[in-house]
Amino acid sequence: MTDVRELLGRDLTAARERTLLLTDHDEPELLRQHTPLLSPLVWDLAHIGQQEDLWLLRRGDATRTGLLPADVERLYDAFAQPRAVRARLPLLPPVEARRFCGEVRGRVLDRLDRLGGDDDPFDFAMVVSHEQQHDETMLQALALRTGPPLLGAGAPLPPGRSGVAGTSVLVPGGPFVLGVDAADEPFSLDNERPAHVVDVPAFRIGRVPVTNAEYAAFVTDGGYRDDRWWSARGRAHRDEAGLTAPMYWGPDGTRTRFGLVEALPPDEPVQHVTFFEAEAYAAWLSAGSAGAAGARLPTEVEWEKAAVWDPALGRRRRFPWGDVEPTAALANLDGAALRPAPVGAYPAGASAYGVEQLMGDVWEWTSSGFTPWPGFRPMLYADYSAPFFGGDYRVLRGGSWAVGASILRPSFRNWDHPIRRQVFSGLRLAWDV
Ligand code: AVJ
Ligand code: FE
Repeated sequence: MTDVRELLGRDLTAARERTLLLTDHDEPELLRQHTPLLSPLVWDLAHIGQQEDLWLLRRGDATRTGLLPADVERLYDAFAQPRAVRARLPLLPPVEARRFCGEVRGRVLDRLDRLGGDDDPFDFAMVVSHEQQHDETMLQALALRTGPPLLGAGAPLPPGRSGVAGTSVLVPGGPFVLGVDAADEPFSLDNERPAHVVDVPAFRIGRVPVTNAEYAAFVTDGGYRDDRWWSARGRAHRDEAGLTAPMYWGPDGTRTRFGLVEALPPDEPVQHVTFFEAEAYAAWLSAGSAGAAGARLPTEVEWEKAAVWDPALGRRRRFPWGDVEPTAALANLDGAALRPAPVGAYPAGASAYGVEQLMGDVWEWTSSGFTPWPGFRPMLYADYSAPFFGGDYRVLRGGSWAVGASILRPSFRNWDHPIRRQVFSGLRLAWDV
């Protein structure tokens, strides 16, 4: 118990340091809303505290009064307040939001100190995950922000390797264990559970994600104007939204995000594409070269098998590379880089099948809708996953450079509408064999 208490104390503190760093701006900056798709940062800040108060100080019982008056608390209910309206709400000013979060945290750390041997520490980990996920959302808002950079130029990353872009590996057919149990991954969220055996026919999967250079060939070939590559829904969205290239791409081979203008790095995984663009890229590539025929997005089940199955041992690995926690030599996580690493940057992070850069860098669109694994049981925060099952979502896997390493597992499932691209989303290809 001592160990897990120490670990959770560290994870809570690391998440909070990150939150405070990302919200260390003046009041007008924190109140700005960069897009109706995202909240002003001061909303995320107080919402982080409100959720922590609800799940850890009131055990999810919303009929009990928390540290905020009920009418103020309601401003931070994500279901009651759609993102588009959040900037117009009478939100707590940044100073008060910070004070509120600090007060909640003080009490939470007291509770953690007193955690007994019979108490399940899971809810603390769930709250760490919630805060870290909002930190990523805040980075999505800061990427959109115009004006001089607020976060610097990003921490350095390892160099890529040539010869890996566009290559693929074979994953032989056969059963594997999909998902995890609390016994193995006590901090896994409800939608990752339970572990169960599924049979997966053989497939090939990209060794690394699709790069900017590869995707640029689709753009310059007129891919956005050729209806052959787009699904009916993809076409409709492309036309309505006026999509001509990934978000943030300029007309002259540059990109602008986080207030930084740069030449588009050719070997970086492409970022900020919708599911529909990812699908269209695969269709275009498939038609254009015999070697790529049949290119498609992987299912999330294929993705997870390629990431964790160790065929020699007949068991899952905790991470693609083995059982040790992520380090800076294994994956690009935690948000400091502000960008994905070039492909080939993490040979030591390869899975048993030789698939690289599965964790970190970019969220990878899969062809799968968001559905529960058989035997799903909601966690304390019961509306985290369940209201979204069966909705108009596609699952994204692997985590981006902006994900906090302490919350990520290969079983982690993210989801978003297929038209969204403010997320740090890219793709990896797959093929039937
Ligand atoms: C899992 C990233 C889709 O941001 O909507 C944050 C995470 N849930 N607060 C989201 C979440 C509640 C969620 N995603
Ligand atoms: Fe939330």
